Amino acid sequence: MWTVPNPCLVLLFHAVLLSLLLLPLKTTCSATTQAEALLQWKNSFSVSPPSLSSWSLPHLHNLCNWTSITCDATTGTVSRIDLSNGNMSGSIAQFNFTPFANITHFNLKSNNFDGPIPIAIGTLAKLVFLDLSDNSFQGSLPVEIGNLKELQYLSLFNNNLNGTIPSQVSNLQKLRYLDLGSNYFVDSDFSAMPLLKHLGLSYNEFKLEFPQFVLN
Ligand SMILES: *[C@@H]1O[C@H](CO)[C@@H](O)[C@H](O)[C@H]1NC(C)=O
Ligand SMILES: *[C@@H]1O[C@H](CO)[C@@H](O)[C@H](O)[C@H]1NC(C)=O
Ligand SMILES: *[C@@H]1O[C@H](CO)[C@@H](O)[C@H](O)[C@H]1NC(C)=O
Ligand SMILES: *[C@@H]1O[C@H](CO)[C@@H](O)[C@H](O)[C@H]1NC(C)=O
Repeated sequence: MWTVPNPCLVLLFHAVLLSLLLLPLKTTCSATTQAEALLQWKNSFSVSPPSLSSWSLPHLHNLCNWTSITCDATTGTVSRIDLSNGNMSGSIAQFNFTPFANITHFNLKSNNFDGPIPIAIGTLAKLVFLDLSDNSFQGSLPVEIGNLKELQYLSLFNNNLNGTIPSQVSNLQKLRYLDLGSNYFVDSDFSAMPLLKHLGLSYNEFKLEFPQFVLN
């Protein structure tokens, strides 16, 4: 006998079908958002070397093949950005952090990036590795650095950062490597990090002879 299909089941079927259709679309969408954000950032650089020629509009849908970018194989979105030793000049104040909330590695070591480290750095809560060393970043280190609780490696070595090292650095309990040396930090106010193997604070302007937390 012919029965009328249960309208709830029909609705469920459509919902499942719809989400299956939207799943790849959603991934493509966030990859495109990331590609657009990177392109916008690159266009703000005062010097952007030929090595970044793959970062371009014609390659917008080929993000995972861009130089200096590594994608997560399952999500097809960016997991690492590595622009180290790139001879690039720009500012990360122009970088839209929001689409990159899931990246694990951000490496800008040895370039000519300048300007402040924006508070939006705290968006990158999955970061394991952050290297901004050998650049010209200036101003103070935002307290939002304390949001990056997965960090194991943090180097800000050799910039023009000043002010007090925020006590929120103590939230980074997974840190194994921390280098804040060669800046203009005047004081430090943070406590023990149990896994720390390397601590660099040389060439700052500490008033203390020897920071007390090091004893811990
Ligand atoms: C990725 O880039 C390489 C080198 O630039 C190129 O040979 C290759 O065809 C590209 N792959 C895709 C899928 O575009
Ligand atoms: C870095 O960029 C500057 C400015 O464009 C250029 O003069 C210099 O040759 C570049 N250095 C290297 C090592 O590529
Ligand atoms: C980060 O990953 C989570 C879980 O996979 C996902 O729900 C979220 O949309 C991702 N966020 C971004 C900005 O890609
Ligand atoms: C820190 O550096 C910034 C930018 O160079 C400057 O405007 C500010 O006055 C400095 N702050 C201190 C406390 O030295």
